[in-house]
Amino acid sequence: MTSQKLKDARDFLSKYLPFAPAKEQPAFHVTGGIGWINDPNGFSVYQGEYHLFFQYYPYSNRWGPMHWGHVKTRDFIRWERLSVALAPDMPYDKDGCFSGCAIELPDGRQMLMYTGVRQERQENGVVDDFQTQCIAVGDGINYEKIEANPVLTAADLPEGGSPHDFRDPKIWREGETYYMVVGNRPADGSGSILLYESADCFQWRFVSVLAACHNQFGRMWECPDFFPLGGKHVLLTSPQEMTSIGLEFHPGNGTVCLIGEYDELAHHLLRESVQAIDYGLDFYAPQTLETPDGRRVMIAWMQNWETSNCRDETLRFFGQMTVPRELSVRDGRLIQNPVRELEAYRGVKISYRNVMVCGETNLQGIKGRILDMTVTVRPANENTLYRRFRLSVARDGERCTTIRYKPESNTLRVDRTNSGFPHDIVSIREFQVRPRQGEIKLRVVMDRYSVELFVNDGEQAASFVIYTPQEASAISFDADGTVLLDIEKYDLVFDGTERAGQSV
Ligand code: FRU
Repeated sequence: MTSQKLKDARDFLSKYLPFAPAKEQPAFHVTGGIGWINDPNGFSVYQGEYHLFFQYYPYSNRWGPMHWGHVKTRDFIRWERLSVALAPDMPYDKDGCFSGCAIELPDGRQMLMYTGVRQERQENGVVDDFQTQCIAVGDGINYEKIEANPVLTAADLPEGGSPHDFRDPKIWREGETYYMVVGNRPADGSGSILLYESADCFQWRFVSVLAACHNQFGRMWECPDFFPLGGKHVLLTSPQEMTSIGLEFHPGNGTVCLIGEYDELAHHLLRESVQAIDYGLDFYAPQTLETPDGRRVMIAWMQNWETSNCRDETLRFFGQMTVPRELSVRDGRLIQNPVRELEAYRGVKISYRNVMVCGETNLQGIKGRILDMTVTVRPANENTLYRRFRLSVARDGERCTTIRYKPESNTLRVDRTNSGFPHDIVSIREFQVRPRQGEIKLRVVMDRYSVELFVNDGEQAASFVIYTPQEASAISFDADGTVLLDIEKYDLVFDGTERAGQSV
């Protein structure tokens, strides 16, 4: 049965989506078309297609009671918009259908598991969230919330666990058993990741605390995901209230990747390394799926709570997803590169080899706002280190977005101070990189309102949103000292059909 709330959201979208023309949307990054989105949810394979749901409030460009929006794709690049999947229409989720996951059941139905939020005023007058895990089952378009909801409540928490911060379930299957990780706040006030198991995906039993924060990396750990990769196990999570640690972690909402061995008896992650997942300004709440050919692919909200009040008010959408990224583990680190499917959209190739740059340089054919470009930078003279290299994109007379490398400190700095924001927000991020034999390789993927940077074949990524007018499409190179550049640049070409944000 379709509730009035769900029907209203679906009607609203069909009526107003035509007012958000495709040319004012990213060409291949998912948005809500109109309205607000945050976390990716239910990123999964269902009946041979990739489905993606997301936290959605269609009625305005600001966060509101959460619905689930829905798109699907065959290649991670061209997305088809489907109707809104969930609305906050039950007593147990009346204040929001928060983040969660999707899985195909053995009987061919698709199951969504999400966090239902109900707010209540406490005796002391404070309004608090009560968060429970709930299930909806459907056919890839329409979903019914089950009678037994909520299926996980405060009664399923380990001692000291908070029912106010109990959210973002992610399920996977191992043989005959289903497992689920979910974020929680234990008695020490920081975050922990709880592990549950089930034989049928409907009835769940608490197993263990898979990993805990102990107030070390932020506090509440949101949106966990856990999977094997490259002989190790990887836990992704998005901590709130981080404090900075060197150039690795910035304050506020951040993302953390813990890599280690999985102790299958104790059901505990024995952590070996901890790193940021993305070093840019706009990245949060990543979620992964495994493709039928065995690739682990991650997508994230290309936005951050810290700057989410800052927007271009002329646009009908707020929030977009990253390009989906293939993950691997190399030398104990998480590696991420855009899905290989993106290469099918490459148009004309423009390439240069050994271009000597000392001072500012523009190159014929190197410009654009929807592109995939790789620049390899090395010193012109092995004995004289240059002081600085700068790549400027989305450039016109007044504005530009820059990526600067300093070989002396091995630091990269992204700067979007002059990228169309009418707000005084954090616009610079600096991070440590590892050059290889003196070279640094920068792959830049741009799509109208974003820049995603992949350093040294995916060893690090840095994502950020820009609102610079589209006419600002110049690209320039600049060095203090002398560098040699190799450049390979492709425009990304779409023929206009079935673009994200376009079809209903
Ligand atoms: C993370 C998050 C989740 C929650 C959702 C609400 O960005 O705070 O923990 O489920 O957003 O929209």
